[in-house]
Amino acid sequence: MSGVPQSNPQKTFYLETFGCQMNVHDSEKVVGTLIQEGYLQVQTVEAADLVLYNTCSIRDKAEQKVFNRLSDYKKYKKQGKTFGVLGCVAQQEGEKIFERAPYVSLVCGSASYNKLPSMLAQLEAASVATREIPFDKLRAGSRPAGENAGLRDDASVIATAGKSGSRKPEAESLVRITGLDDRETDACFETEFTARTNPHRGYITIIEGCDKFCAYCVVPYTRGKERSRTSQSVLAEARQMADLGYTEIQLLGQNVNSYKDSEGNPAARKTFAELLAAVGEVPGIRRVRFTTSHPRDFGRDIVEAIDAVPTLCDHVHLPVQSGSTRVLDAMQRLYTRDQYLERIAWMKAAKREISITTDVIVGFPGETESDFAETLGLLEEVGFDAVFAFKYSPRPNTPSLKLDDAIPDEEKARRLEVLMAKQREIQTTSYKRYIGTSCEVMVEGRNEARVQWMGRTTHNKTLNFTAPATANPKPGTYAPILVTSSFPNSLLGELVL
Ligand code: 5AD
Ligand code: SF4
Repeated sequence: MSGVPQSNPQKTFYLETFGCQMNVHDSEKVVGTLIQEGYLQVQTVEAADLVLYNTCSIRDKAEQKVFNRLSDYKKYKKQGKTFGVLGCVAQQEGEKIFERAPYVSLVCGSASYNKLPSMLAQLEAASVATREIPFDKLRAGSRPAGENAGLRDDASVIATAGKSGSRKPEAESLVRITGLDDRETDACFETEFTARTNPHRGYITIIEGCDKFCAYCVVPYTRGKERSRTSQSVLAEARQMADLGYTEIQLLGQNVNSYKDSEGNPAARKTFAELLAAVGEVPGIRRVRFTTSHPRDFGRDIVEAIDAVPTLCDHVHLPVQSGSTRVLDAMQRLYTRDQYLERIAWMKAAKREISITTDVIVGFPGETESDFAETLGLLEEVGFDAVFAFKYSPRPNTPSLKLDDAIPDEEKARRLEVLMAKQREIQTTSYKRYIGTSCEVMVEGRNEARVQWMGRTTHNKTLNFTAPATANPKPGTYAPILVTSSFPNSLLGELVL
């Protein structure tokens, strides 16, 4: 039996998300769309008819996770479950996924999610048709007659037998559907049915795709070209969220700084900094964050907006990737070390103290000891509040695959360790500056084991705190906390009554 019954009101799905905030938010939109289609979300694979993985392919490790998940699902498939792979691995591997994971029936890239309901309906229709076709008429890769009725050009359905030519039990015949995106797609996944998981803070996508083509990065191939939403639709979503009680908004995009408003009336078009300020001015919104920025497109106007609009959080994530201009050039990052430091200087001159975080890749092909030393020196010079560091991972289609002088994995691991130890030292010292100050947090929840509350500051730091039993701070509320001690990655304090 197919896992996607059409008329059964109990059709259920399980969705697991890997990767970045873009994927997390895409999943919220997929969940909303499926609920709207009458599906019920369940929390285990066992309880689901439809099992979906929203995947990440930024590094090899992330990609392997989904294939590990799919490796032992023969038993579930026999129970009639339908498996689907969404997101970046889906887009990158396309129909090759069916070879690596033969029990998968659905492969769908992120710009095709608005077609998911019709793809699921087609999958069900094709599955019913397949059950009616004598099994020996099915061959791997063939399209049985009549089955393509109603199919759109951009999605394809293939009915295949478990093994070409051999007669197998009906449960093992497979119906497969792919929805893959053209890199040139203009499609954005906008839906009214976003199932946000947090009732107080939520994401809004403002730009999808990326045109930067950094030498190591798979994103321009998996998420397509840059396309921005109109400022009007972003602001309408922000107002709608404020009406629903959200107070914190995070604007999302692979490179939010290259936002280009496509508003019909040119006079009404906003730059990214203007959009940021306008979202910050929506009544009811108390905090606005944005991620991710690219140093090449990061303008001074963003710092000016943070200075001018109090609701814009005092935090900028500005990935540097390397402290060596030579490596930055090989990475095709389009800026030098000095240009990066110039942007840091703008932020350090801001009226409020802006917390700055970054991403670093160690062991890019050809990275010498002295290049690496420049990265360590840059960490010292900037004093980042957090660093997300990764070993370079060669990715399909990317220009850096062709570069010589690969760094051995042990050496990459060594550099990663050295870098993280250095950053830990920096944060151990720098987080102490908060001790004795009062910081406002948005309350996120309670850690029962530690008898503490969890909160987040405007600087995006975790600030755990104690409170008298009578206080009972509620998640989503804002509270002043006196910081009493610091750790390399978090702060501890007491609720100020
Ligand atoms: N190898 C290692 N890290 C990578 N990133 C992107 N591509 C790769 C890769 N091929 C890192 C970058 C980016 C972050 C999201 O992931 O640091 O900013
Ligand atoms: Fe990848 Fe570079 Fe685009 Fe970021 S800016 S998504 S690192 S290609």
